[in-house]
Amino acid sequence: FTLLLPAFVLAYLLGSIPTALWVGRWFFQLPDIREHGSGNAGATNTFRVLGKKAGCFVMLVDAAKGYVATMLPLWLGVAAPDSNALLYAQLACGALAVIGHIYPVFAQFRGGKGVATILGMMLGIAPAAVGVCILIFLAVLLSSRYVSLSSMTAGVAFALLQLLPQFRPAQPFMIGFGFVLAGLLIYTHRANIGRLRAGTESRVPMPWDKK
Ligand code: G3P
Repeated sequence: FTLLLPAFVLAYLLGSIPTALWVGRWFFQLPDIREHGSGNAGATNTFRVLGKKAGCFVMLVDAAKGYVATMLPLWLGVAAPDSNALLYAQLACGALAVIGHIYPVFAQFRGGKGVATILGMMLGIAPAAVGVCILIFLAVLLSSRYVSLSSMTAGVAFALLQLLPQFRPAQPFMIGFGFVLAGLLIYTHRANIGRLRAGTESRVPMPWDKK
């Protein structure tokens, strides 16, 4: 347990890496991606402002931050494998990475919305539920063209899936945790919700759309 505190600090610092901001600065001479597009330092806005390659890269790195943070307690051996204590430590580290991503110490506490980092976090904990959520995300995206709506729907679907024992790691605690994450996603997307209601949210064009 002495390694728990360093794991927490590391998880938050890892999550705090502002990938979108730094990719813009280092590879595109863009001082601050938060002054462009939706103003978000996340993968979607990187796609929008800097293109597909940069967007995919940011998505992978942001997801990896969540995955690695969640695995830290396991790799550091902070608790017995397959124990409740280990799962709680993993959830705490994952959550700290997500908080770091949204409120990064390396970027004036103005980061992204947490979607990719939550995805990476849950990949290590509830992979089957994540698989279903990715399908739901894609279905909503293809029918609506709204990434924000797809992200929030997938987040709520994840929480609902935790009601089914086959989709959650054994502990019922995951149900509450799932709803907290869904609530967090809705909170970070509050500006998007306003734009969706006003009909001004930007849509993702599909390659087969008529020009
Ligand atoms: O990556 C977050 C996504 O759900 C919305 O991003 O840039 O459209 O606000 P954005």
